[in-house]
Amino acid sequence: SSVQFTVTPLCCPSRSSILTGWYPHNHGVRNNSLPGNCSSPLWQKGPEANAFPVYLNKHKYQTFFAGKYLNQYGKKEAGDVGHVPPGWDQWFALVGNSQYYNYTLSANGKEEKHGDSYETDYLTDLITNRSLRFLDDRSPQHPFFLMLCPPAPHSPWTAAPQYQKEFVDVKAPRDGSFDKPGKDKHWLLRQPVNPMPNSSITYLDNAYRKRWQTLLSVDDMVEMLVKKLESIKELNNTYIFYTSDNGYHTGQFSLPIDKRQLYEFDIRIPLMVRGPGIKPNQTLQVTAMLHIDLAPTILDISGINVSSVNVDGQSFLSQMAPSLRNGTTRPFFLVEYSGEGNPTTDPACPRLGPGLSQCFPDCVCEDAYNNTYACVRTLNSKHNLQYCEFADTESFVEVYNLTSDPHQLENILKKVDPSVLQVMNQRLIKLQSCVGDSCRDGGVTDHRRKKTMII
Ligand SMILES: *[C@@H]1O[C@H](CO)[C@@H](O)[C@H](O)[C@H]1NC(C)=O
Ligand SMILES: *[C@@H]1O[C@H](CO)[C@@H](O)[C@H](O)[C@H]1NC(C)=O
Ligand SMILES: *[C@@H]1O[C@H](CO)[C@@H](O)[C@H](O)[C@H]1NC(C)=O
Ligand SMILES: *[C@@H]1O[C@H](CO)[C@@H](O)[C@H](O)[C@H]1NC(C)=O
Ligand SMILES: *[C@@H]1O[C@H](CO)[C@@H](O)[C@H](O)[C@H]1NC(C)=O
Ligand SMILES: *[C@@H]1O[C@H](CO)[C@@H](O)[C@H](O)[C@H]1NC(C)=O
Ligand SMILES: *[C@@H]1O[C@H](CO)[C@@H](O)[C@H](O)[C@H]1NC(C)=O
Repeated sequence: SSVQFTVTPLCCPSRSSILTGWYPHNHGVRNNSLPGNCSSPLWQKGPEANAFPVYLNKHKYQTFFAGKYLNQYGKKEAGDVGHVPPGWDQWFALVGNSQYYNYTLSANGKEEKHGDSYETDYLTDLITNRSLRFLDDRSPQHPFFLMLCPPAPHSPWTAAPQYQKEFVDVKAPRDGSFDKPGKDKHWLLRQPVNPMPNSSITYLDNAYRKRWQTLLSVDDMVEMLVKKLESIKELNNTYIFYTSDNGYHTGQFSLPIDKRQLYEFDIRIPLMVRGPGIKPNQTLQVTAMLHIDLAPTILDISGINVSSVNVDGQSFLSQMAPSLRNGTTRPFFLVEYSGEGNPTTDPACPRLGPGLSQCFPDCVCEDAYNNTYACVRTLNSKHNLQYCEFADTESFVEVYNLTSDPHQLENILKKVDPSVLQVMNQRLIKLQSCVGDSCRDGGVTDHRRKKTMII
């Protein structure tokens, strides 16, 4: 396992980064809607045509996808279910956002509707079943790649019937920043009621418990896949990555439930990897793998020369399996986020103005148009520093020393030496327009100058 970060804590932009190995400012997917490029025609024409499965497929990999793809996938304006992205031999993708029942799939470009019978429709199990069938039917001469994307543990948190009574006593953890006031933070973190009302706490505990319940079917998926790989004698020759598109909070800084914030609880994600050359049970502590590193890491594993591929990330095979590759880690990295809002006031919360979104439970809003920020993070054996700038009317800045303050309770902006702030600000500006090499060396390479020199 390792410390992994998303480069943007929201489904569609984050998934787009996983698929392309690019920061959001390069793939152009800004939010979960079509105007924000989620599965848009421009995405399909550009970034999607360069996503890593395309390279794998060219390299004779048999490829398989099942589950949630991009939030607007399969909608009419996004090319309908007939749009099967290039690079995939077998394609079973959910139309729209997370569901467990009553959904539509694109089954290799054909519409497949599902109802709510556990035996035939429960999506997590369907993904498992189709992936097992793919492994049985594959051609043994060629390598394979599967991407399995159960919506679990995303809302609506519908657990399989046999798991709905599990974890009855489980509650969200009360440690760290749980129900702490975000008084020195940007305005969105200053609006929740603190301490949270009981109704919010009941709501978030329930969500936490149900999320765990839905994950029991994902555990089944992992177990059955590992057993299948064992039975077809491919387990010792296969890499398995287990991760998520973003983090989640339940009560931190009195925000009931969601993601979209710059804090550890939303940008840090689990990553577990097993495979040839990786020692069991090792935890990489300091080096941070990013979502944009997954594509180059997978391509590296498949034997494709990563330097020939246009990505912002870097292969992490050298960190995970030092006996197989040499490599260096990047000095610092970027997290960037474009806030989502509604143009009108939420009728359930008339005291709130327009421009906000995700205002539930108890009219606490989790996002807004101006929850738009970019952060630079220095993470090495000596430093663990985060510097964030908001595009809001206050030009708000938050700075955290994660070594002394892992829960980000204190914004140290006013205590930090101004020269440090200046360095962080310069790095941030460079990273926000980085492309390829200049994203890996922290913006030291000026890609534009390099390009004009070539011309
Ligand atoms: C949408 O994506 C295209 C292609 O990547 C990009 O040129 C455009 O600027 C993006 N739109 C937004 C709103 O970022
Ligand atoms: C699925 O749709 C049917 C028909 O609209 C509805 O009765 C049922 O409650 C839905 N099931 C779930 C789990 O949402
Ligand atoms: C998955 O396969 C199992 C075992 O064959 C079966 O019991 C289950 O009903 C299937 N579920 C779905 C959703 O296809
Ligand atoms: C909220 O819950 C706490 C702890 O369970 C309880 O002591 C308190 O009375 C509750 N407050 C209200 C207003 O229900
Ligand atoms: C996997 O195991 C088989 C049989 O035990 C062995 O022949 C093969 O060399 C192993 N492959 C790898 C990559 O370790
Ligand atoms: C890895 O850790 C687990 C849980 O602590 C333990 O059961 C297992 O034996 C360990 N495996 C190895 C190879 O050390
Ligand atoms: C998504 O991004 C686009 C492009 O920046 C913007 O026009 C749109 O308002 C955003 N959608 C939401 C819900 O914020």
